[in-house]
Amino acid sequence: CGIVGYIGAKDSKEILLNGLEKLEYRGYDSAGIYVLKKAEEGYLFKEKGRMAALREKVDDSVKATAGIGHTRWATHGAPSVRNAHPHQSVSERFTIVHNGVIENYQEIKDAYLSDVEQKSDTDTEIIVQLISWFVESEDLETIDAFKKAIVALEGSYAIALMDNQNPDVIYAAKNKSPLLLGKGDGFNVICSDAMAMIKETNQFVELMDKEIATVTRESLIIEDFTGEKIKRAPYTAEIDSDDFEKGTYPYYMLKEIDEQPAVMRKLLLKYQDENNNLTVDQAIVDAMLESDRVYIIAAGTSYNGGLVGKELIEKMTHIPTEVHVSSEFGYNTPILSEKPFFIFLSQSGETADSRQVLVKTNALGHPSLTVTNVAGSTLSRESNFTLLLNAGPEIAVASTKAYTAQIAVLAILSEVIGIEKGLINKGTMLHDIGIAANAIQAIIDDKEKIESLASDYLSTSRNAFYIGRGMDYHVALEAALKLKEISYIQTEGFAAGELKHGTIALIEEDTPVIALVTEKRVAGHTRGNLQETKARGAHAMVISMEGLDRPEDQIVIPHVNPLLSALVSVIPTQLLAYYCSLHRGNDVDKPRNLAKSVTVE
Ligand code: G6P
Repeated sequence: CGIVGYIGAKDSKEILLNGLEKLEYRGYDSAGIYVLKKAEEGYLFKEKGRMAALREKVDDSVKATAGIGHTRWATHGAPSVRNAHPHQSVSERFTIVHNGVIENYQEIKDAYLSDVEQKSDTDTEIIVQLISWFVESEDLETIDAFKKAIVALEGSYAIALMDNQNPDVIYAAKNKSPLLLGKGDGFNVICSDAMAMIKETNQFVELMDKEIATVTRESLIIEDFTGEKIKRAPYTAEIDSDDFEKGTYPYYMLKEIDEQPAVMRKLLLKYQDENNNLTVDQAIVDAMLESDRVYIIAAGTSYNGGLVGKELIEKMTHIPTEVHVSSEFGYNTPILSEKPFFIFLSQSGETADSRQVLVKTNALGHPSLTVTNVAGSTLSRESNFTLLLNAGPEIAVASTKAYTAQIAVLAILSEVIGIEKGLINKGTMLHDIGIAANAIQAIIDDKEKIESLASDYLSTSRNAFYIGRGMDYHVALEAALKLKEISYIQTEGFAAGELKHGTIALIEEDTPVIALVTEKRVAGHTRGNLQETKARGAHAMVISMEGLDRPEDQIVIPHVNPLLSALVSVIPTQLLAYYCSLHRGNDVDKPRNLAKSVTVE
């Protein structure tokens, strides 16, 4: 979920709506704003669905200079107007927006609110009812009731609160979920992500866990739970708002697929020194050289990128590397080596599952590197080191260019360390990633062919398989995730050799099975496994690499350094997913049930 707040001199409604549109990547099943014109004259607008639906609903004639807003990804309670934020106390005096999950909401309800009529099915509502209860039953000032309520909460939250008796202040609090305060001239803002308010200001102050803020037009006061005031200098967010435009593309996803060759070239420029050698911050190299094991922590597509990253790190640096799903690692932590080094892979740098692992590894004092697309994101701020993907904003929910950029950055990092360790004589990645960029371009230039393959293979199928071995297996997992996410076809990425040990039972007449064949030593075996499915009726397709191709293969990708095959073999699978989703009439950029960045655990 994403939250925004504005207090100043302009029409807050427009600023809040614009801000929420920028935060839709955090959820888009419902949205709402609350604006307060003067004492006791507040206006609440909520709607189910996308921001466009909320815009329709908002009464344009309402002008108010303070307000808060929210875009939701449902956790407690189905997507509906009733469950959309903002939520209000029964008296409607207090209004709140919240991102996160309150774990002890039932206890709070039982202890204080058993007589209070519940207006929604959310955990959020109890926060605002509790504040109201403290004000009414204990005769507290709003700020004191707010603090008392916040201290009682367990779980994750970024909160903004308004009191209709006082249009001159917004209260905020944070634990685990991100929240920034933006400073302006005669106004101040609140947002989950700087992108939401970059049109208004580029000066932001980060709110830390268990801090409370009082925001007025002229001031931002931050304090901790003990009431101790905290001074924190703002930082400048470097975001170019022009990068967010779709241009002539029908969908962001296609634009982002097309941008990949340019992303590769830009990365090579960013990671080059004055002698045209690839380079990364020496402190990162030293920290990794000191470690005896690398742990890659990630979710979703970034996890799949991590699997490729493990191969690159182990092959080029000989440092043993493990890859873990972040939501598992936090609770089911493996026995760590003596000197672990953590790499957090995250496009957004905001994924709550990954962040909870970082909190834990920080507490244990282990060094960490975040590889992310978003400078200044939570994971970047809270880890020791950052390497940026420099891929430009990725808006489509299904990740494409961030995945390939992650692989390229990990290849660069691995080579630099391999050279430092004396395992590699002369680096080739600068040249090889450049060649891979050309190969990606060649596939993109031939996208009509992939569009027709998508119609031929995937237009009516209910399920599908991607198979491969080694690196191709890792790509098969990502290819399957992409197809699932946006086409809703139930797809499995499978180790080609494992299929016959059970799952082959699912193959029926015309089930699409797509084999990835880019690695010489396993090519024959994978082709054999594909034959096994064909013999049982599968509609087989092969994506092979030049040199290993056969005349009957449907897609042949140009030859590249086998270490980088994932960069190129994933491209046809991205395009297959894109066209399949498009032909099925789905919303390619905003698939059902998903959010670009999931900020709850
Ligand atoms: C969400 C998105 C996925 C993404 C995952 C991890 O679930 O829908 O596409 O891969 O989060 O995101 P991150 O920003 O940490 O890479």
